[in-house]
Amino acid sequence: MQQLHESTAYIKRVTGDFAPEFGIILGTGLGALVNELEVAHSLPYAEIPNFPVSTVESHSGILIFGHLAGRRVVVMQGRFHFYEGYSMEQVVFPVRVMKLLGVKKLFVSNAAGGLNPAFNTSDLMIITDHINLQPSNPLIGKNMDELGPRFPDMSDTYDEQMVRQAMVIAEDAGFTVQEGVYASVPGPMLETPAEYRYLSIIGADAVGMSTVPEVIAARHMGLPVFAVSVITDMGTPDRIKKVILADILEAAAIAEPRMTLLIKELVRNA
Ligand code: HPA
Repeated sequence: MQQLHESTAYIKRVTGDFAPEFGIILGTGLGALVNELEVAHSLPYAEIPNFPVSTVESHSGILIFGHLAGRRVVVMQGRFHFYEGYSMEQVVFPVRVMKLLGVKKLFVSNAAGGLNPAFNTSDLMIITDHINLQPSNPLIGKNMDELGPRFPDMSDTYDEQMVRQAMVIAEDAGFTVQEGVYASVPGPMLETPAEYRYLSIIGADAVGMSTVPEVIAARHMGLPVFAVSVITDMGTPDRIKKVILADILEAAAIAEPRMTLLIKELVRNA
């Protein structure tokens, strides 16, 4: 708690009276939303006391404060994954700082493998529920009562109103979006065909290596959450191919403008 307050105090000193209304976490290959920002402050993670520092090349690691659709937002460009060796507390540290900075809603994006046969590469899937298959979660250990309760409810994890709003935004903009359940696995390896089949059988529509730890921390603190996956490859039996990072980035880039529009319009109306 003391580390969280130190980091928050430092950020407030640097950003003055900016006071972000909403937090946004951008997933792999989905960083271009920052081009839509009127940037006010840009803080490399390395400069923020107690912040975990990014080790992965493709993740830039900057906390950006700016206006999006006329609203004040704080954007994480680059997130922390459990597979990088961070503790779950480190993975969710920035989300907790965002809440202490005063954000009222959290928006999250990620790249994911598709399990639902109705999906296609570069589809957007609005997350309506999740299955946590990470080996741990950020609430293990002594409860931080200042942040939230010992046993947080998870019956309405993804804000229904924002899900409905997003469907309308997509329809108005003339593109279709999928809805579904996101399974979060530790990675960093992708799934075997048997694992893809297993994930599908237990009720997942998409699988990825992030998001759920941050969402658990957000819901612990009572923050409403909207999350969206970009389907970057398919894990259905007939469509499994060898996947390399370049393919994931390419599929994400195709979907990126639609994802950016969705989050921007949700923020505008939030
Ligand atoms: N599996 C897990 N994580 C992923 C995938 C996948 O197929 N695609 C993008 N992230």
